[in-house]
Amino acid sequence: MTQNRRYRSQDWFDNPDHIDMTALYLERFMNYGITPEELRSGRPIIGIAQSGSDISPCNRIHLELAKRVRDGIRDAGGIAMEFPLHPIFENCRRPTAAIDRNLAYMGLVEILHGYPIDAVVLTTGCDKTTPAQIMAAATVDIPSIVLSGGPMLDGWLDGELVGSGSAIWKARRRLAAGEIDNEKFLQIGAASAPSAGHCNTMGTASTMNAIAEALGMSLTGCSAIPAPYRERGQMAYETGRRIVEMAKQDIRPSSILSREAFLDAIVVNAAIGGSTNAQQHIVAMARHAGVELRESDWMEYGHDVPLLLNMQPSGKYLGERFHRAGGVPAIMWELEQQGKLRSKRATVTGKTMAENLQGRESNDREMITPYDQPLKTKAGFFVLKGNLFDFAIMKTCVISPDFRARYLERAGSENVFECRAVVFDGSTDYHNRINDPSLNIDENCILVIRGAGPVGWPGSAEVVNMQPPDALIKRGILNLPTLGDGRQSGTSDSPSILNASPESAVGGGLAYVRTGDTIRIDLNTGSCDMLITEEVLAARKAEGIPAVPASQTPWQEIYRSTVGQMHDGACMELAVKYRGVADNMPRH
Ligand code: FES
Ligand code: MG
Repeated sequence: MTQNRRYRSQDWFDNPDHIDMTALYLERFMNYGITPEELRSGRPIIGIAQSGSDISPCNRIHLELAKRVRDGIRDAGGIAMEFPLHPIFENCRRPTAAIDRNLAYMGLVEILHGYPIDAVVLTTGCDKTTPAQIMAAATVDIPSIVLSGGPMLDGWLDGELVGSGSAIWKARRRLAAGEIDNEKFLQIGAASAPSAGHCNTMGTASTMNAIAEALGMSLTGCSAIPAPYRERGQMAYETGRRIVEMAKQDIRPSSILSREAFLDAIVVNAAIGGSTNAQQHIVAMARHAGVELRESDWMEYGHDVPLLLNMQPSGKYLGERFHRAGGVPAIMWELEQQGKLRSKRATVTGKTMAENLQGRESNDREMITPYDQPLKTKAGFFVLKGNLFDFAIMKTCVISPDFRARYLERAGSENVFECRAVVFDGSTDYHNRINDPSLNIDENCILVIRGAGPVGWPGSAEVVNMQPPDALIKRGILNLPTLGDGRQSGTSDSPSILNASPESAVGGGLAYVRTGDTIRIDLNTGSCDMLITEEVLAARKAEGIPAVPASQTPWQEIYRSTVGQMHDGACMELAVKYRGVADNMPRH
């Protein structure tokens, strides 16, 4: 199909005013056999942001999938140009993968702005690879589509499902209790990862891919297809075809990433039992898209939404069954019937979300429940504040009845807990001292960790789901309440108060809590406070805030000096003012 739109790539490849530069721009692409005629044919150049590599194994399937994306791009009349995204691997990147989300974001913005790219396929998977790329697409604002890599196949061991992350947290407790040895521990980890793909639980990876789809950024049904399934390659092909049409029609992220879309993302995140990490990533994507999300939106739109998906860590099953049960469209169909979505909004399909969802009812009601027979009520994040922080969240739906009962007996009310604080400065301090008998840690305690936020760590670390001392675990106390200015893995079922913001390292209230303080958590009023007098607080403030380790690399220093707090999405603050940068062409 011919059309009259002039693409930004033509400013490089077909520019009579800069014929000298055009010659330069064209010649080196011939290195791999592409011809000047192709590049000057007026066809859109489609970038493929390649997130897979040997050190990004969760996304490695994209090295294969890109071939099918290219087929789709060619068939629809585009020209593909694949390039690498800065790798992010959640489990392996030290000091934490969180520090790389803003780096990958910034790198992708520069590529999309500075090279002849007209539209882009974002290849997503492992946790932060998804928000990083959507944030960049929002900043640049060229036609963009998400292709998820998909989860691994379900893991099995000894006749039981073993899900990524979740199996590790469980095994860690069994190891501490002396029930299994190191060898068995490693075996469980291996069994939970049986194939290519990202985490097969509803951890942060599956959550963020589901959210990309809920926002309207991927083709319908894309996110849940397991990486090795044949539909994954087919989805890659269709995504390649679709992005060319989007380029021709100039369908940009700014027409898709609306406030309505983000509110629906909050609703969907609750219904799937999504990762607590979704909070900062949703806020970050919204801010880069110029959409205002309020802290109250989490309670107003999300908290009351019931849990509809029976997937670990909130439920029983794993990703293969989620896909077979209908995936994200089946969850959204359920929400749509109840009028819980703002679905008359644009999506990358060229149709509205409501149109995309037609006929998507699930036929597996054990996996995706009807709205009025949910697995749990009130599955959305609960927002807390008090003198320890201005904002923190808790995934109250993972609090076990046993855990509630333990605190109910003591506090006299199911929703008010008072605990004795045991405070750790970072994870080394925690590991060194957690089994120290002189701390007298018992079931009346709350474990507090600080120095784990964006500035303190640096990059917010997944350390808040701290395990009780071995002695308690042996007595059957598998969870204590925890609180911190870091994050926790989306695959954890710990009832933690996390993402506390502002963090201790910038003078948040956590900096002034001391071991032995009483902390009162009131889930009726949403408050969390250390019970100390104003005088004591003033005296502690005079002592200053706990020290944090020095930066070890240039990026750590840049990251620390540019990052905002978790309630604001931990964005690179100076970046959020840039929007639609593709239209502001770089000079020759
Ligand atoms: Fe990469 Fe879970 S560690 S997806
Ligand atoms: Mg994680």
